[in-house]
This record gives sequence, C-alpha cells and structure tokens, in this order.
Amino acid sequence: MSFQSEKLGGHMAAAVSGIDLGHLPDAATQQALIDALHDNLVLCIRAQKLDPPAFLAAMSRFGTPMRRKQLASTPECADVNIISSEDRDELGDGKKIVNGANWHTDDSFMREPCSLTMLYGIEIPSRGGDTQFANMYAAYEDLPAETRARIDPLKVVHKYSSSRKLSRISTRPADEMAAMPEATHPLVRTHPDTGRRALYLNPNRMEEIVGLDRAESDRLLDELIAHATQPKYQYRHVWQQGDIVIWDNRCTLHKANADYPEGERRLMHRVIVAGTAPV
Ligand code: SIN
Repeated sequence: MSFQSEKLGGHMAAAVSGIDLGHLPDAATQQALIDALHDNLVLCIRAQKLDPPAFLAAMSRFGTPMRRKQLASTPECADVNIISSEDRDELGDGKKIVNGANWHTDDSFMREPCSLTMLYGIEIPSRGGDTQFANMYAAYEDLPAETRARIDPLKVVHKYSSSRKLSRISTRPADEMAAMPEATHPLVRTHPDTGRRALYLNPNRMEEIVGLDRAESDRLLDELIAHATQPKYQYRHVWQQGDIVIWDNRCTLHKANADYPEGERRLMHRVIVAGTAPV
C-alpha cells in the first residue's frame, strides 16, 4: 500500500492521503506511518470513513488501547471515547465543558501516561474548533545550555486535579477521585523511540517541582510554559471531516478551541494507546 504525504507545519505535522484504514495496512505501510509520526510528531490521515470498531482496529496497530472512563464512550466500543461540543459536567453543575481547552499532554497524572492520542473528526463545525499543538523537542533544544543543565535533573509531581489547573474538569464520583493516581515525572524526558529529549510539561496537571520551595517551583513552571507555548513552536490543525489526527504526547502539548459558532456541533472519536513511565 502506498500513500502521499505533505508537510503541514514548518517544524512539525504532516498529512497523508491515499490510504483507507478500513483495510488494515501491511507491515511496511504501518511502519512508514509510525516513522512519519516520529518524524513529524503530529500525523493527519485524511478522508477516513470508519465505524468505532474499525477505528479502534486501525489505531491498535499503533499501540495497545487504554480505556478512559472520565469520557463518554461510543455504544459499540468502550475503548472509543467521544469528545463533543455537547459535553457537560453531568455529575457537577450540568454546564457545558470543553475537554482539553488549555495546553496539556494527555494523562500525565498516570504513572504510565498514554503515548499517543488519536482523534477522529466525525462532525466538524463550519469554522473554528481547531486543535493547536506545540513541539516540546524544539522548545527544549532552544533553551540556553545553563537552563537545560539546571532543569535536566528536576522532577515534577502531576495530579489529576492540580491546584495550578487552568481548565474546569468534569466532576467525578468521590471514590474515583480518592483513588485517582498522582505521579512524579522528569521535567525533561527522553523519547523511548527517537532518543530525543523533550520538555515534559502539563500546565493543567503539574503541581510542583520536587525539592524547590513553592514560589520558586511556580516561577520556573510558569517560565517554561510561557517559553514552550510560544507561537514559533506551534502548529494549528484546521480539521476536515474524516481526518484522523495522531499525536505523540511524549514530545507535544495540545489544546482544543471551542470558538465555533453556537449551535454547530463538533464531534470527535478518540482513542489513546499505552505508554511507559517517562524517563
Ligand atoms: C483533547 O485534548 O484530547 C481534545 C482535543 C480537541 O478536541 O481538539
């Protein structure tokens, strides 16, 4: 199976077309897709028409799917979550909630956060609703050598409901919240497949840097977040219906935009696949 590929952003993101994931790719094509993802950090596969089982089967070729009960699932497949403009804080105030509205990487409160996220555009509004990405390899590599030397050994505590969080998060049952893990991760991680070093930030889940007093920890985290989310590190994905966008949470941040016209629906299916503890 062959496909066409085009660069989307200057320093990250590519789109491939001419491939139908309804027929699972042969091993060489699958490897070419994985290589394209490693090279580009964000990979868009255009014009797919997949029901939830077929979407899950295609994404399972990139890793082992993980179940997320914090999001609704499709009736056909519990491992395919739904992200919708109609999402509400059902167990809280019932008001609309935008999942992923601030910069984050997925699931960093877990000891082994997911490696990849796949988002499939089912219904796309007439305008708006883009997803923004930021390149954490480039943000790390651009830091002055003395800053890199200072932050290389540091570790950060990540929590599901961090006191620094910027986004509203869905209310969860008390027993689930009590059992919610927290994790300590390196501030700079080495990608297990590419060997490249990347800033590992999650503005929404980081609580504090281990061993620094709180004011110093907040100051350093704020500085690094401001640095890493500068426009020069970003790519903004304008969705087409049928796009599957796969991103690598180990070297990117992302954020959703809920700026589409009132009354228009944005509906995505989402799969995440397992990762390993960051080192
Ligand atoms: C997410 O943060 O996983 C969702 C991103 C989006 O809806 O654009």
